[in-house]
Amino acid sequence: MAEITPEIASLRRNYTDTGLPDNLLPGDPFLLFKRWFDEALSSGVLEPNAMTLATSDSNTLPNARTVLMKGINESSIRFFSNYESQKGAEIQHNSNVACVFWWGELERQVRLRGLAKKISEQESENYFKSRPRDSQIGAWASRQSSPIKNREELEKLFSEIRDSYNGRDIPKPPFWGGYDIEVHQIEFWAGRPGRLHDRILYEKRHQTWSRKRLMP
Ligand SMILES: Cc1cc2nc3c(=O)[nH]c(=O)nc-3n(C[C@H](O)[C@H](O)[C@H](O)COP(=O)(O)O)c2cc1C
Repeated sequence: MAEITPEIASLRRNYTDTGLPDNLLPGDPFLLFKRWFDEALSSGVLEPNAMTLATSDSNTLPNARTVLMKGINESSIRFFSNYESQKGAEIQHNSNVACVFWWGELERQVRLRGLAKKISEQESENYFKSRPRDSQIGAWASRQSSPIKNREELEKLFSEIRDSYNGRDIPKPPFWGGYDIEVHQIEFWAGRPGRLHDRILYEKRHQTWSRKRLMP
């Protein structure tokens, strides 16, 4: 059984945020999501676009890791990865995913659920071109999630790819690109005093958003 040390058990913070009053909730949750994201950006949150992305494997076992959100539009969010990575294989098998942002400095959490879909090659190429050269080389060098003998092997692969392009433009690897998550559920959580936190859940059915308040 896991040991609960008094030091960890006593970690506690009293949240003071003014929360999510009903009269300020928009009909479209993406308006609120964009506003919260802008506030996370301007509040100096470390990596405000970092989110936990949960998928499930072919045995339905859950899996999660951090990725960076690279775009938001009216009802979807975008991230980039290796299509042949573990997450890539899992999304191929089951495109239902969930994401969580935790903006601790603002005492806010956002949970999203939706369907992940590969974006067009052209859009992935456009973004790939904007990446630093070392990241472009890294995308070729890393067969993400595959085992490698040691660190030296990886660095050797990186140098070989760097030398083979020798100043020329680096094309996007065919196994690398973006996903859009078309969101159908989004929950906003704001820390409030006395653990009476605010939770507002939006759900989309037939292109229409509805919302309800959940107990904390
Ligand atoms: C802050 C942070 C940001 C990351 N951003 C990405 C990302 O945008 N895309 C990505 O493929 N991996 C990203 N990673 C690495 C992933 O967490 C993960 O290690 C990798 O994608 C392999 O996951 P998988 O084996 O489940 O496919 C990031 C890791 C951290 C800690």
